[in-house]
Amino acid sequence: MNSNIHIYNTPQDSASALAEFILALAKEKNKHSLPFNIALSGGSTPKLLFTLLSEEYADSIPWHFVRLFWVDERCVPPTHADSNFGMTYESLLKNVPIHDNNIFRMIGEDDPEKEAKRYQNLLETQLPMKNGMPQFDLILLGMGDDGHTASIFPDNLSLLHSESTVEVAVHPLSGQKRITLTGSIINHAEKVVFLITGLTKAPVLYQIIHQKSPFEKYPASYIHSFSNPADFYLDKEAAKEL
Ligand code: 6PG
Repeated sequence: MNSNIHIYNTPQDSASALAEFILALAKEKNKHSLPFNIALSGGSTPKLLFTLLSEEYADSIPWHFVRLFWVDERCVPPTHADSNFGMTYESLLKNVPIHDNNIFRMIGEDDPEKEAKRYQNLLETQLPMKNGMPQFDLILLGMGDDGHTASIFPDNLSLLHSESTVEVAVHPLSGQKRITLTGSIINHAEKVVFLITGLTKAPVLYQIIHQKSPFEKYPASYIHSFSNPADFYLDKEAAKEL
């Protein structure tokens, strides 16, 4: 896989480097008075980034230009411990000066099929279109130990190529329903960045980056940005086998 790999000593360091990258992009957008449309992932790794952004970037990021969307959501209410929005609210949103009108959550408590359609329509009205498809400025992704990304799991690779931009997915082990962006809109984003830390991710990451079998079965293998490879922000444990 063609990719831009950035390796740091600790998870904290990789999150800091990514926060600096986000700050630079936000300032650039601000300079041209353009909105900055970002899609956020859930899971434990982004939480570290969100906490850092709220503790150290509450004043420096021009939050009034930032518009937040979600890569995926678990089909639970925002008060549920599994809610990606709930985690983001607690670790970031309640601590930074972002306006409610700039927050576009996936409604995990609504009927999943209807919500996937609603969110797809929302993206078409809220994002700039490029070649007939809405385009994010930045998509932040994580990767599971099984090579999944967003809520695209190895047992449902068809979500990578769906004609829809938002679909319902099912977690292969728990059976939990999820709403997820599909590969079509993720790979259409101006910039796609993975933040991946920890030893448990090392073997799969090695296979993906070096295209060693069975990389073909990992959804993360198929991700890139609109005209470039994806960027990987890693700690040295995740990068151990590279
Ligand atoms: C989610 C995700 C998911 C996540 C990876 C990595 O809602 O679960 O958006 O794709 O990014 O599973 O999660 P960790 O950072 O917890 O390993």
